[in-house]
Amino acid sequence: MRFAVISDVHGNRLALDAVLDDIARLGVDAVLCLGDHVSGPMDPAGAAARLMALPGPIIVGNHDRWVLEAMPQRAIDRFARSRLNPAQLDWLRTMPAEAVQAGEVFLCHGIPGDDNAPWLDNFFDGRTTTLPSEAEVAALADGRDFPVLLCGHSHVARFVRLRDGRIIVNPGSVGMQLVHGAPDARYAIIERRGGGWTAELRIVRYDWDGAARQALDNGFPQWAEVLTTGWAGPEMLG
Ligand SMILES: [Fe+2]
Repeated sequence: MRFAVISDVHGNRLALDAVLDDIARLGVDAVLCLGDHVSGPMDPAGAAARLMALPGPIIVGNHDRWVLEAMPQRAIDRFARSRLNPAQLDWLRTMPAEAVQAGEVFLCHGIPGDDNAPWLDNFFDGRTTTLPSEAEVAALADGRDFPVLLCGHSHVARFVRLRDGRIIVNPGSVGMQLVHGAPDARYAIIERRGGGWTAELRIVRYDWDGAARQALDNGFPQWAEVLTTGWAGPEMLG
């Protein structure tokens, strides 16, 4: 069993296309998608169209919930809402918050039960991206009796293996790099091999200058800078 895990596309259709090309080259049984699909000033509708065509489970992130609010607070959520057609908004509306794939892989956006909290990062205190303590990380896995636990939200790619053998994987962000110091798209491949699960964190070049031009054209110059460097902190998504 071999799955691709993508998360936090944030309306970056150019990054998503490059990642989907990479996935097609490798070959997988399904693509699992962890939320924050459209909130970005590049091409939310184009990203939604690609994601709607994917077979495989897909769940909502905090920004997807905010896009669906009558008057989203954040500019990127308002922008995404203005670009999506009614069918795309309905697609977001009917998406579950969590999912299980093949009875073995648990999907959530942030942590179980909360799409707006990071699991593997003390990330939202300034620019630190330290791994929380083993006790904190393991406590959130309590009662989630699946060999693979997937999360996104922090935009930081990480792999953790608990003492009992379960793995927790954050694939990083496809479309909006924070504090990685590189603009390249990130995603993960998870695979059950020889009776156990493992993961590969992948890095994919794409046309980030093209994505930056889209952000500029849509009136978000600060996103253009972030997209071409990957050094920004989490305040960019505020
Ligand atoms: Fe996100």
